[in-house]
Order: sequence, then structure tokens, then C-alpha cells
Amino acid sequence: MTKQGDGFETRAIHAGQDPDPVTGAVVPPISLATTFAQDAVGKHSGFEYARSGNPTRRALEECVASLEGAAHGLAFASGMAAEDTILRMLSPGDHVIIPDDAYGGTFRLVARVFGPMGVEWTSVDLTSPDALTGAWRDETRLVWVETPTNPMLTVVDIAMVATVAHERGARVVVDNTFATPYLQAPLSLGADIVVHSSTKYLGGHSDVVGGAIAVNDGEVAERLAFFQNAVGAVPAPFDCYLTLRGIKTLAVRMDRHCSNARAIVALLAEHPAVGTVLYPGLPAHPGHDVARRQMRDFGGMVSFLAAGGEAAALEVVTHTRLFTLAESLGAVESLIEHPAQMTHASVAESPLAVDPALVRLSVGIESADDLVADLRRALDAI
Ligand SMILES: Cc1ncc(COP(=O)(O)O)c(C=O)c1O
Repeated sequence: MTKQGDGFETRAIHAGQDPDPVTGAVVPPISLATTFAQDAVGKHSGFEYARSGNPTRRALEECVASLEGAAHGLAFASGMAAEDTILRMLSPGDHVIIPDDAYGGTFRLVARVFGPMGVEWTSVDLTSPDALTGAWRDETRLVWVETPTNPMLTVVDIAMVATVAHERGARVVVDNTFATPYLQAPLSLGADIVVHSSTKYLGGHSDVVGGAIAVNDGEVAERLAFFQNAVGAVPAPFDCYLTLRGIKTLAVRMDRHCSNARAIVALLAEHPAVGTVLYPGLPAHPGHDVARRQMRDFGGMVSFLAAGGEAAALEVVTHTRLFTLAESLGAVESLIEHPAQMTHASVAESPLAVDPALVRLSVGIESADDLVADLRRALDAI
């Protein structure tokens, strides 16, 4: 149904989702069959066994590929399953460069699962070209970029990293979970592979765990699809349906996430209980200029340091009414959390450890005034 030149919102609603050819249903059916009839051996309609391929999953994969401007999309049971699949392209002795404030789960996967299997890794400040080239080895095959990062909101120049990596024969992966394809198009900036925790903004409603990959190179896509089938961390058809349903409203949700985040940042910037505010939309943010260049807007994630340190941070996260104290992010409801003891506990005592005074907000799409009043009350109380 979609054609070249269709806008983002059109593709979010229609890509991979033509009306069902049998019934005309305008929503792709949740296809539960685990196996598909064959007319003769090897002669089938494109589906054989549901781990290898499933019609609802294919709709999601085509939609994600379209949104990322990619030739190929792959869906997984979680963001970590998608990350695992990409890292399986490495062999013992290969070296991967990761950000020095990578998502804790990414760090854990690289350091504690692939590390013991012989994959070498270095964590560096990817905002610095010198740090990137300084960490380079003959065996470097992959640079793993996250931008903006979780939870420090560091912005990495994707085009710069891609230039450095490609000159040296390595591939670049971008975790686009925080920005989403609506705000940032990594493949158009030179990245080779885009990965998502679709649990977050793509799903958008805190009701489905999933992951996705988008890639242009056919050989890479084939290898990733081989691992997807061979390892089997595939999403259930119902999960694919929920994610597709979420994606339809991605653009309008992201616009509201961004404008609500701006209102929250304005409060934080003037409140005495708040130290540094981390938000790429602030002109003082070190990544502001790069973010302006490579993002449509600055996103719905905001972090800040409580002026009163860890004790104050732990206080504020329990004093909000609308901001729910919970892990995860990117859904319609606002969440607040303490990364050092919650989402990023897995990097405690590592070089990636998070400041215990840090508070992370996932700003939802409730009424901006209510969110500002809620957070102001909690900050006033500490
Ligand atoms: C930036 C980022 N990447 C990957 C993941 C992992 O995704 P999942 O929890 O869906 O496995 C997360 C989860 O929080 C994340 O924030």
C-alpha cells in the first residue's frame, strides 16, 4: 500500500499492513499458526514454520524497516535478544567498542556474556573522535553507538563515528531506542545497523516487550535472519500486533513527549533542589549542536542530579503522584526512577557506574501542567 515518498506517519500506519487479501481486514490478523500448509515439498506461500517466519511478525518487520529507511527489518522477543543477535556476528578475538555510558544491559551482555566467549571490548567516550581512534585495534569489527544514551542523555555524532569506523573497515550499530526513527534516522547518517528495544517508544504503552533491527546490507540481513531462526528469540504474534498498534501513533506521541519534556526541563532548570539537568535540548548540553543536526527534536527522556545527593534523589522518586516509580521508559505514562539502584544496578562498581544522585524521568503524554505540578510538589518536599 505504501509507496516511495510517503511520509513517516503514513508509513507508520500502512507499511507492511495492506488489507488482508482474504477478508479485507484493515488490521493485520494475529496469525497464531505454528506451521503452514505446503502444496508440494518446498512449495509454500512464504511461510513454513513460525519460528522462521510469521505473517504478523513480517508485517512488523516491514513496518520497522520502512520507518528506519532500511531494506530489511527483523523483530525479536526483546531488545536484548536483538542486541544478542547482532553481537553473534563477532568471533572470538574480535573487538567491539562500546560507549562509556552504554545502557547497563548492553554493557552486561558485552562484558559478561560475549567477553567470556572471547570477544574483546573497550568502553570509550564516543563523543571524542580521539578517544574512538585511540581505542581502535586491528581486530575492531564493530562500534556500538547509543544516542542519546540511557541514562546520561549523551549525544554521539553518528556520521563522525561512521566515517571513522568505515575508514577502518568496521561496522556501526546505533541503538535508536531513545530517539526512535521519528526523531533520528541513523542509516541515513552512515550507520550500518539500527537496533531497538521496541518495549519502549515503538510499543509505547508499557504492555509489550520486544526488539527490532533494521539494516540495508543484504548479506548482513541474511546472517542476522539466520541467527534469528537458529537461536529462536522471536516475538509472539500477539506481541507483534501490539507493537504495530503502538507504532501507528508514534509520531503524534513523540511530538507530545518532546513538548512535555521541554515543560519539565523548564521547571528543573529553575528549581533549587536540582543540580545539573541532562537534556539534549538545552543549549548548554555538550551534545546540543550535534543533536540539532541529527535529530528532529530532543526526545522525552530527561535526567537530573539531585542537589542534595543520593538521599535527595531517593526521596524525590517516592514523592510524585503521576510520575510512577518504575523501570522502563518510552510509554504514554510518566515514569521516574533511580538508575544507580534500579535500571543501571548491573553496572555498579564498573567503569560505567552511574552517579547515585541521578534521577531519570520518562516524560509521558499526560497534561503538561499536571506533570509540572506533580514534579514541583515532589521537589519542594525534599
Ligand atoms: C537503550 C536501550 N537499549 C536496549 C534495551 C533492552 O531492551 P529490552 O528491555 O526490551 O530487552 C533497553 C532497555 O531498557 C534500553 O533502554
